[in-house]
Amino acid sequence: MSTTPGLLRPHLGSFAAVVILQVIGAVAGLAPLLAVVELGRALLSPGPADHGRVWFVVAVGAVGLLVRLVFTAASSGIGHLLDGRVQLEFRRLLAARLGQVPIGWFARRRTGELAKVVGEDVSAVHPFIAHTPGELVSAFVVPLVSLVYLFTVDWRLTLITLIPVALAVAHVPLMMTASRLREQKEFDAAMGRISNSVVEFVRGISVVKAFGGSGRAHRAFVTATDEFADSFYRWVHGLSAIAAGMQLALSPPFVLLVVLVGGTALVTAGGMAPADLLAFLVLGLGLTAPVAALGHGFDDMQAARRAVGRIGDVLAVPPLPEPANPAVPRGHRVELRGVRFGYEDGHEVLRGIDLVLEPGTVTAVVGPSGSGKSTLVRLLPRFFDPTHGSVALGGVDLRELDARELYRTVSFVFQDTSLLRASVAENIALAVPQAGLDDVVRAARLANIHDRILELPRGYDTVIGTQAWLSGGEAQRISIARALLADAPVLVLDEATAFADPRTEQALRRALATLEGERTVLVIAHRMETIADADTVVMLEDGAIVERGGPAELLARNERFAEFWSRGGQAR
Ligand SMILES: Nc1ncnc2c1ncn2[C@@H]1O[C@H](COP(=O)(O)OP(=O)(O)OP(=O)(O)O)[C@@H](O)[C@H]1O
Ligand SMILES: [Mg+2]
Repeated sequence: MSTTPGLLRPHLGSFAAVVILQVIGAVAGLAPLLAVVELGRALLSPGPADHGRVWFVVAVGAVGLLVRLVFTAASSGIGHLLDGRVQLEFRRLLAARLGQVPIGWFARRRTGELAKVVGEDVSAVHPFIAHTPGELVSAFVVPLVSLVYLFTVDWRLTLITLIPVALAVAHVPLMMTASRLREQKEFDAAMGRISNSVVEFVRGISVVKAFGGSGRAHRAFVTATDEFADSFYRWVHGLSAIAAGMQLALSPPFVLLVVLVGGTALVTAGGMAPADLLAFLVLGLGLTAPVAALGHGFDDMQAARRAVGRIGDVLAVPPLPEPANPAVPRGHRVELRGVRFGYEDGHEVLRGIDLVLEPGTVTAVVGPSGSGKSTLVRLLPRFFDPTHGSVALGGVDLRELDARELYRTVSFVFQDTSLLRASVAENIALAVPQAGLDDVVRAARLANIHDRILELPRGYDTVIGTQAWLSGGEAQRISIARALLADAPVLVLDEATAFADPRTEQALRRALATLEGERTVLVIAHRMETIADADTVVMLEDGAIVERGGPAELLARNERFAEFWSRGGQAR
């Protein structure tokens, strides 16, 4: 919430213009009504009508109408321009912040929630900026001006005319009782749950269908809708009597009735001029309409406030701190010292890791599923910062390193490979967009995916995700090619068990074999052939290193790793 005033500050001028133009327009809109009243007075009073005066009044009314049209249009135009600018700014800020948060942060967000913030919530500021302020201000100003005028006509009938408004306002405290507010909260929460479960239901629909689990998976959605229906009923039920009372009080027939009864009494007994009654009939109705607008306006404001709150939450996610004076790494030795990390408080996934990766060596991480292998290797491209200890590259803590320098130095192939909706060649050349097709093809050959690419409808120009779909293993081979082409000195590979087919395996080994020179390689391999080629094997169990050494050495030791090996890499 604190971000809103700051975000709007540069636009205060336009914002004020929106409000002021709206108010002038609304007040000018009273002129035609007053003209009607004055016309009535002129024409109904005894004796011949004063033609000059009549035409003057008509002219004033017409000018008022014109001013109203022009000013409200201008206000609305500026408001919508401002709204567009502010929404763009919100989205830019969100995009910028999302570019700075730890990559790992996304893994824990529901995509539905994030999409809602960037899309719907940003759009929800529209009424807040383009409509509501002007409307709310005119809702106060117009009745105020009318009241002043009516008081000058007849203060007694003015008070009588205010009876419906007073009755309506008397209902407001009833809407704000603790239980009403609680119902409103419940309603909002139920609304939130329903949109989450819809998104999740749709996202998971293929799994749900495939496993015939419409029972269980569907239940979350059904429960959410039931809860929503319940709280909606309670909310509406609580409000309906109050709302009905308010509506009745503000309804034109009731207002007319009050004015007519009061006016007739004053004309017959109080000595009020009958022509004056016209002023109350014309303007009296105008007193109540804004009260209704106030209700809607506040609803919109509330909705916008909540939306802006959620936007603020995303903007408040601490970005990965960037060093003010980035250090320059010396060499490509990677060193993890006392590294601890947990995704959630109180549950450590890595429990004190000390590990040195020497340039020119391949280190294989092995261990049972869930032991923390992927988590460990994700620290190298700084998806997360460790909660304790440090990860250093060339003697420099990753936190002291410029992000671009880091991504130039460390390239990675992960289990959950994601390819972009772009051509195969663009996907491979992601890190080196200026690479020629020759280089792309060479990398693809090394990664054992070249032949498959040639089978695609448009070869290297095939757009993935629209013209062709690749299997998990194929996608991973593309990302191996990508990493090879990037030619970074530090390479991190997380081979997926599921894709560990012979061809991907072969691609991985070939890739590793061709890496000459001083490359630092950290690989999570599931196949014994890859592990056997490694210089060092690190056995991870439950977030801690339980054994390390050369593969032959560890086999000879005949302990944890030997057992792991004898099971073919499938630990317990
Ligand atoms: N994004 C996440 N949020 C919360 N917990 C996570 C997240 N990713 C992994 N974990 C947890 O951290 C632990 C280690 O997971 P990790 O993915 O590092 O294991 P792994 O050794 O790579 O397993 P596998 O061999 O199956 O890939 C697991 O208990 C897992 O539930
Ligand atoms: Mg893993």
